[in-house]
This record gives sequence, C-alpha cells and structure tokens, in this order.
Amino acid sequence: MAVVTRDDCVARDRADPLAPLRERFRLPTNTVYLDGNSLGALTFSAERRVQEIMSKQWGHDLIRSWSDSGWLDYPARLGDRIAPLLGAARGEVLVCDSTSVDLFKLAAAVTLQRGHRRKIVTELGNFPTDLYILRGLARLAPDLEVVAVPRERVATAIDQDTLLIVLTHVHYRTAEMYDLREMTERAHSAGARIIWDFSHSTGAVPIDLSGANVDFAVGCTYKYLNGGPGAPGFLYVRRDLQAALEPVLSGWLGDARPFEFLDDYQPAAGIDRHRCGTPPILAYAALDGALDVFDEVDLAQIRRKSIELMQLFIDLIEALPNAGSLQLVSPREPDRRGSHLSFTHASAGSVMQRLIERGVIGDFRAPDLLRFGFTPLYLRFVDVWDAVQVLSEELA
Ligand SMILES: Cc1ncc(COP(=O)(O)O)c(C=O)c1O
Repeated sequence: MAVVTRDDCVARDRADPLAPLRERFRLPTNTVYLDGNSLGALTFSAERRVQEIMSKQWGHDLIRSWSDSGWLDYPARLGDRIAPLLGAARGEVLVCDSTSVDLFKLAAAVTLQRGHRRKIVTELGNFPTDLYILRGLARLAPDLEVVAVPRERVATAIDQDTLLIVLTHVHYRTAEMYDLREMTERAHSAGARIIWDFSHSTGAVPIDLSGANVDFAVGCTYKYLNGGPGAPGFLYVRRDLQAALEPVLSGWLGDARPFEFLDDYQPAAGIDRHRCGTPPILAYAALDGALDVFDEVDLAQIRRKSIELMQLFIDLIEALPNAGSLQLVSPREPDRRGSHLSFTHASAGSVMQRLIERGVIGDFRAPDLLRFGFTPLYLRFVDVWDAVQVLSEELA
C-alpha cells in the first residue's frame, strides 16, 4: 500500500464537505480529540443557547418561562429533534432522565405485562449499567430471571419463555454492531419484546427504528450528539405500543393533568407519560444547541466520513514498524462496527497516559484496551495522521 503522507491528509480535509462544520465547535488547540464517543465536544450553539436561557428566560422571565418559553415541553420537543437521527417518528422519542433510569423505566413497564414469560435475555460483557439495572429490577420481581450470556449465545438463549431482550447496538469496547433488523425479528419470532441501547450509535450510525420495527430503545446524548456532560438520556416507544405501556416511575409530570394536582394518577396519552419529575432546563438547553449542527448534515455523510477516518487510522497503524504490539479487536469490516476502534496493547494504560499528556486524547479500558473514537463533525484526516505519529513515537 502506498504511504499516506500528511499532505495527502491535508488535501482530503480540503475536499471534505463536512470540514466547515468543525468551526461550530470550541476545540482546544494542540489536541487531537479521539474521545467524542465518551464525551462529545462543546458547540458554540450549545454555549449560546445556555447563555440565552440563563440571562433572558431564567434571569428575566423567571417562572413564566415554563409556559412562555416552552420549558415544560422540552423533553418531547428535543425527542422530536432526535427522532430523525433514529429513524423514528414524531411523538415516539422523549428526552429525559439518564440512560440507566430510562432503561429501568422501560424494562419495568414491560415487566408489568409479563404474563407467563419469565426471562430477560441480555449480553455479558456489555456496558455494566444495563445488566445492573436488569438485576435490580429482578429483585423487585423475583419471578423474573435475568439470563446474561456471552454475545455468541444471545440468539439461542431467546425462547418462548423470554419476555424481553436487552441489547446494546454498538459494543462499548469492541464497537461491534448488531444487525438491528435481524435481532429484532429474532425477538419477535419468539413473541418477546426488545429494548435496544443506542448509546454508542446515536449521531454516528444511521439507525432505522421504524424500518426494523423496534419496540423500545434508550440512549445517551452526551457522546456523538455532544449534549454535554451528564446530558439527559432518551427513550423510544413505538407508537402502537404506547397506549398499553404503563409507567412504573409514575411521576407527576407523566400524569395527564399535572397542574390539576389530583390524588389519582392517570398516565398522559402519548410518550409524555414516561416523564417523571421536573426537567433540568439548562441541560436541555445545551443539548438543544448542540443538535443544531445535525440540521445541516445527513447521517449517511457522517457515517461515510467516519468509515474513512477509521480506515485511515487502521492503515497508518498497520504500516508502523512496531504495529505488532497492537491488536485490533474491533471488526475489520466497517459494516460490522460503530464509530470507534479498540486495540489491545500490553501496556495500554501507560501508553494512553502518555498520549493524553501529548494532546492525543483517547481512552483506556482495563485491562489492556486503547480506545479511539471518530467524530466526523470535528475530526480531520490530518488529526488522524498526527495522532498516529504520536502513537508511533510512544510505542517506539
Ligand atoms: C451502552 C451504555 N449504556 C448506558 C451508558 C450510560 O448510562 P448513563 O447515562 O445512565 O450513565 C453508557 C455509558 O457509556 C453506555 O455505554
């Protein structure tokens, strides 16, 4: 393979239709940020939106803003902004609480409908919160069994006793991506429901929830959506399942008539019933501003560039004289992975520490994983080249 030079990368950046969008982000100088899969970068529009809300809506209009500035509707409004990125329709997505809490809410509501079914099937080695939440739920419903199996056994663990399958679309360590349609069909053919966790997919990989006939989903907004540290999660409930799904965390703002302050809870009509308490408006403002950049691109473009950036990274690394100390654990085929790459290395922790000291920010996952995220809205081809240069020096 021909050697790729830094100038080649500069030329690719010049030809890149997404390149101008980097200007929308406040990025530190002398840094190559390869951790937007963990915490996305700050957009100027998020900064402005938070500032506006602080100074005018909170600072001046005070409590009137709940109605006059639409604070009360923020969870559903932001849900509708995210819906196109998920292939969902308006009224099917709600931004609220955290991903962990949203997963509990949906799994608990499905548990209320369990009939004779007793199993929740999930994957061992997934991001731990999903398993912890399900096991916590099983303590409340001791007749439930959480069947957690290695990835390769998930499909065969699903049977006629399965109530629910909970899977993460893109794996947080390896970036391995499930076939959404195939696993959803598998769940449905056993008469079970499925909740997908899209934390590592949303804003990075095109998703077609409606096309795949997905039942339920949750996900993070602080990764590829750049919503900010601790930004609220989202949940999705397919329209035809909404009326029958009764919330267990039945907070007052999920009630049909919250301002009548009645003693009897009656769930709101649509997705709003999954609201719980008062939404953190400043966090919503940051996410709202961050989503502006997605109005100007389509996910196919983002995905295309993500694949190109990752291929460049792999090619450059594999051309290094000391490439043998790194082992790619993410799938080589782009269609089988999300937007990050992981490599094992015997001294991964100290290598990552040195990379970070030199301004190349990825992350380390114990015991031996170097993880690098690729965020096409603000990452350049030349950044990838520079990062590999630093990595090469540190490996040497
Ligand atoms: C698959 C997955 N689910 C959930 C979360 C986090 O959930 P929460 O926002 O509740 O901390 C993460 C965080 O990285 C994750 O990778």
